[in-house]
Amino acid sequence: MCGIVGYIGHKQAKDTLIKGLEVLEYRGYDSAGIALATKNGAKLYKEKGRIASLKEAINGDVSGMTGIGHTRWATHGKPSKANAHPHQSQNKRFTLVHNGVVDNYQQLKRDYLPDKHFASDTDSEVIVQLVEYFSEKGKSTDEAFRQTLSLLHGSYAIVLMDNENADAIYAGKNKSPLLIGTGSGENVVASDTMAMLTVTKEFIEIHDEEAAVVTNDDVQLKKLDGTLVHRESFQAEIDEADTEKGTYSHFMLKEIDEQPAVIRNIIQEYQNKDGNIKLEKDIRTALEETDRIYIMAAGTSYHAGLIGKELLEKVAKKPTEVHIASEFLYDEPMLSENPLFVFISQSGETADCRGVLVRVKKQGYRTLTVTNVPGSTLSREADFTLHTHAGPEIAVASTKAYTAQMSVLAILAMDCAHAQGMNSDFDAMKELGLVASVMDTICDQKDIMEQVARDYMADTRNCFFIGRSLDYHVVLEGALKLKEISYVQAEGFAGGELKHGTIALIEEGTPVVAVTTQPHVNRNTRSNAQEVMARGANACFISTEETREEGDQIVLPTVHRLLTPLITALPLQLIAYYAAMHRGCDVDKPRNLAKSVTVE
Ligand code: M6R
Repeated sequence: MCGIVGYIGHKQAKDTLIKGLEVLEYRGYDSAGIALATKNGAKLYKEKGRIASLKEAINGDVSGMTGIGHTRWATHGKPSKANAHPHQSQNKRFTLVHNGVVDNYQQLKRDYLPDKHFASDTDSEVIVQLVEYFSEKGKSTDEAFRQTLSLLHGSYAIVLMDNENADAIYAGKNKSPLLIGTGSGENVVASDTMAMLTVTKEFIEIHDEEAAVVTNDDVQLKKLDGTLVHRESFQAEIDEADTEKGTYSHFMLKEIDEQPAVIRNIIQEYQNKDGNIKLEKDIRTALEETDRIYIMAAGTSYHAGLIGKELLEKVAKKPTEVHIASEFLYDEPMLSENPLFVFISQSGETADCRGVLVRVKKQGYRTLTVTNVPGSTLSREADFTLHTHAGPEIAVASTKAYTAQMSVLAILAMDCAHAQGMNSDFDAMKELGLVASVMDTICDQKDIMEQVARDYMADTRNCFFIGRSLDYHVVLEGALKLKEISYVQAEGFAGGELKHGTIALIEEGTPVVAVTTQPHVNRNTRSNAQEVMARGANACFISTEETREEGDQIVLPTVHRLLTPLITALPLQLIAYYAAMHRGCDVDKPRNLAKSVTVE
């Protein structure tokens, strides 16, 4: 979703802004722009479409040591040059970039700005006009900025420039991510640490409802009422090389291939020298004490949560519910007496999850975040965090983060069993080691998945995925992968459910992928596949050596039954990847999608 970068220092701001925005491209956007401070006021460059178009529009030498930049994912107003950020106040004194959604922007416009001329349809423009409004009433820029922020309802991450003082940029946030990167004689502000790595690896958090005045050698952090805040900086453990594609044509393929290494890394990170699980004692206590776990997540992370429930219930006998966070947020079900809330989020920034986190914390419940981004909002705000150690995931379609989430949940389940003094025969570390080796084998057999994609998905309009038990949860993910990057209408179904309506959509040649790795329902899934084949479907079977039958297109080595989702995920990811490639789609940056969904 929208990305922000601001720079102030001794170098040309343009280069850091463009480089930072390029790093944020993966988050999804539909227009981009930058503003540079010059002695004649801020100079703006904005374009609809990709950063490449913006670079062409800038074309040539532009200078300015202070600047702000933005990639916009449209919420209010269509993607267009006029709606692209930065936005300026009517008299052009102030220039601003904004992420998030201002819920009361119409009201603010009516109450304070009836005489201002607006150049865009965005909610963001109201913010910059308000700063000018308060500045015209005699407030300093710092005061006008904080007063404006205190009026906003909703979410925001904002960076502002003032023509009359190019030696400072102003930053503020509520619910949307924003951090300050501190360099030597230069400082940077961005919505993601990765966008600042060319300048620094040292960061200062901005908390909700705080604002900062940032100069080239100073950061002054305040609450919105003006009270000074002192906060130590922290070093991010992140390697710039992790954000590069290397020899791969796409990040998605690179990230699929990284999965065996990620699983091995997780084993190492969560295992003591003596072979036992290494988890914070307080997490273990929370697991032991809770009477019911509530998993909150969205999209692929929700699908990982479904597997997490199976693991927690089967391995640790701990009752677990999985909820789509955006649903739970407005419709809280009856809760048990002592719930533990587990938030699963690759980015750690998903607004729907955060909404739930903020509420359940107020209700006094314990919270644990499973995330790939330490220092992310959900990680900072939960009582406990478990890191998935997958390294930065850049492709919008989540792959390695998904299998990493399931692996960490497997470890959590085993620890939960131990915490309750249970004698479980499930050895997560040993079984994950086997999974990593099987993943290596699958990654070496990409030609099979490429052939399946060519045979089944090359020019289909729709596609169905069926499975039962754990396979059902995985086919939901298989369908999501295919639809988000190839735009094929794809749906995952419980094998037994397809005939209760959806079978009406089966036509001659409709592809149906049947995942059948669970011995106890293997026969049932195969019968369901026969039902659709009898009506013309073109069925493709994914099984294991234990459940295979002659003619199955993809046969995987057998792993522990509860961990089969970790290996079936790979062929499904690869099929989606090759299907998208054959159809000429932009695999890493699918249309309309954002990597980090920071608005509800
Ligand atoms: O960062 P999160 O894991 O919280 O993101 C949740 C979903 O937005 C995400 O999984 C989305 O479904 C991906 N595009 C899936 O590939």
